Amino acid sequence: MNEVLKRDLDQMGILLEGIKKEGLSFLRDINEIPTSTQPKVPAGNPLNHKGKGAIAAFEEFSERFKPIMVGSPGPRYWGYVTGGSTPAAIMGDWLTSIYDQNPQGIKGNGDISALLELEALDLLLELFDLPKQYTGGFVTGAMMSNFTCLATARQWLGNEQGMDVSKEGLFNCPEIKVLSATPHSSSIKALALLGMGSTNIIQVETMQGNREAIAMDSLEQQIQELNGAPFLLISSAGTVNSGDFDDFEAISALKSKYKFWWHIDAAFGAFVSCSPKYKHLVKGWEDADSITVDGHKWLNVPYENAVFFIKEKHNKLQVETFQNSNAPYLGDIAENFSYLNLLPENSRRLKALPVWFTLKAYGKEGYQSIVENNIQLAKDLGEWIQNHHQLELLSAVNLNIVSFTWKNADHETIDEFLNRLNARGKVFMTPSIYKGRKGIRAALVNWRTSPMDIDIAINEIEATLQSF
Ligand SMILES: Cc1ncc(COP(=O)(O)O)c(C=O)c1O
Repeated sequence: MNEVLKRDLDQMGILLEGIKKEGLSFLRDINEIPTSTQPKVPAGNPLNHKGKGAIAAFEEFSERFKPIMVGSPGPRYWGYVTGGSTPAAIMGDWLTSIYDQNPQGIKGNGDISALLELEALDLLLELFDLPKQYTGGFVTGAMMSNFTCLATARQWLGNEQGMDVSKEGLFNCPEIKVLSATPHSSSIKALALLGMGSTNIIQVETMQGNREAIAMDSLEQQIQELNGAPFLLISSAGTVNSGDFDDFEAISALKSKYKFWWHIDAAFGAFVSCSPKYKHLVKGWEDADSITVDGHKWLNVPYENAVFFIKEKHNKLQVETFQNSNAPYLGDIAENFSYLNLLPENSRRLKALPVWFTLKAYGKEGYQSIVENNIQLAKDLGEWIQNHHQLELLSAVNLNIVSFTWKNADHETIDEFLNRLNARGKVFMTPSIYKGRKGIRAALVNWRTSPMDIDIAINEIEATLQSF
């Protein structure tokens, strides 16, 4: 063994203690760690021929990078849709690196990591009150989950027209019909990657009254115009700008009348199902063919973590899509279950472990409290904005998202306002366009966020307004 590696192996305890100390200090200070930084890294040296060992590497990291790490797992990082990491999720994540398993089959490679993955997926189905009629799997993010679901949907579309798209490609596939009202950009990207075209979406109207949800009467009219052609419907459980939900009971009713693959992007919206107060928003979703859920958002597990759920009845199509072997169809999935044939990646990290830990640790009540707390705090912030003479909500705060703007300000001023607000380093938000209007959005999904954080954000917004 190389002598530097040998020395590090001998002092593994010291190394891990050092990391634990650093981790604890970051987590202890998380409320104060700036939520933004200047994108400048002090210069480093080229790769040294003889390695300098883990302690020296850690010293260099501490000097150059540690001071500019932002508090993104903290309570006021409200840009994009950014979760943190619960204590149990961090435990599971650390162990994931240490055990370093590669979950594949339930019989195949002599380990049990795929079984742990399946158990974590069952726990998630229980959390969401979804029937255990789905085949799930872990991928890196909701983008890849949408990709996995839409790839299987593409196979279904081809199959309905007598084609095997995974073998023949899309060249001769006559009908690619994709309908959606407010798809997330990642679904559009997935359509591009899948050769279905990012501009091929047939735009469905949204409901009246500043909503982003599908207008069901227009949808049905558009379906009728397809004259029976099979199609793919991408629906939303939680749109990014207003947290709006499509009417899943109504979509479900269409299932008996028309032939379509129904996908729901529930990247963060899935978690309303933990709350008796909000679970009506997903009523009827159990009839969907596929569902996307993110782990690194409202579940509060570290990046990169998401799951897909695809109805078991589509197993054959899923295997045809992701089959990793030139062999003909691999037989009964229950007999030959292997993630190699069910999702895009081959080798994978055991992303299920942090999920398993956090679900065991906090259960449904833990997640109910995170969800209800975030929604209440978003509504509180929304109410303050609504009453502010210079500010205006762009959408009602339906869920955990606050989209707002500076009344009568031009685009440049709004951008500058957001730059100045973020540069203060106490709260982080991201820009947005809502119904054609320039705005700013805050998405609250962090388990730590408290009323005190709303007060801090309000002070920061006031101070930023006054700086103009
Ligand atoms: C509704 C929705 N879908 C998909 C995504 C993409 O998620 P990821 O960044 O995990 O790929 C997001 C991210 O914010 C989202 O809000």
